[in-house]
Amino acid sequence: MVRHFLRDDDLTPAEQAEVLDLAAAMKRDRFAHRPLEGPRTVAVLFDKHSTRTRISFAVGIAELGGHALVMDAGTSQLGRGETIADTARVLERQVAAIVWRTSGQERVEEMAAFSSVPVVNALTDQFHPCQILADLQTIREAKGGLAGVTLAYLGDGANNMAHSYLLGGATAGMHVRIAAPAGYAPDPAVVARAEEIAAGTGGSVQVTTDPKAAADGADVLATDTWVSMGQDAKDLAVFEPYRVDEEKVALAGPQVSVLHCLPAYRGKEISAEVLDGPHSLVWDEAENRLHAQKALLTWLLRQTATEEGGG
Ligand code: CP
Ligand code: NVA
Repeated sequence: MVRHFLRDDDLTPAEQAEVLDLAAAMKRDRFAHRPLEGPRTVAVLFDKHSTRTRISFAVGIAELGGHALVMDAGTSQLGRGETIADTARVLERQVAAIVWRTSGQERVEEMAAFSSVPVVNALTDQFHPCQILADLQTIREAKGGLAGVTLAYLGDGANNMAHSYLLGGATAGMHVRIAAPAGYAPDPAVVARAEEIAAGTGGSVQVTTDPKAAADGADVLATDTWVSMGQDAKDLAVFEPYRVDEEKVALAGPQVSVLHCLPAYRGKEISAEVLDGPHSLVWDEAENRLHAQKALLTWLLRQTATEEGGG
């Protein structure tokens, strides 16, 4: 049966751990794994800007022995109104997997519904699950494990990163704290799903408007841009208290690691001192996109009976 990765809870806790183990193995021996030898092609489609996602999928697919067909989807017929379903029907006969960065979550869901090859969410307005796999790999490297680790995310609690930390962190058995201004709390349905997952993994979920309480004693401090791609201008003054700065790092304690998916806006959601300081793991985090996604693609293709006839 075809397996897709559209949101973080598409992997069970055991499956997430398998993917992260594979990611660690792929990082240790970077050029030894070539499941896409042939080469088989993976379509990597973008409706939004990207540096890390575009590069890490293109490099990763090449390192797996495959070929990355990287395309701005707006220049395809999709951009002129061809349906997602018809695009999926064309792609599935030629490629081994489809990776797509787009706006609404329902768009990747529709692509998956009509595709017999794995569809991977490379960021939607609601979730950024590939980023969270890389973040979890980075946290495992720094802390030696994930279960019981406390991650505090400060900033826009209603965006894709916050939602993915909730689902992915709960799946990993972490304690996830989201601190966001009033009006920017996470989607209650995502919080409820994260709580349900956490009940089974020993993790926990906390949503607050108090950034200092969230940072207090946290093992990991994370943030993201206050203005995500596609969002209208908003009042940034309400976010000021949520900046990850020296004060929040001090509240967390000397053990804290700092994550940011990047691109970062120094002086906005994170101070330059912290982003470029000794607690920051952001460059490892950006590198781990490569290893985590190679592992994810390999894992999804192993689970999926391939019928595309050679790609
Ligand atoms: N973190 C991340 O997804 O970066 P890009 O937008 O550059 O791909
Ligand atoms: N929340 C950000 C993440 C960028 C990688 C956005 O959607 O723009």
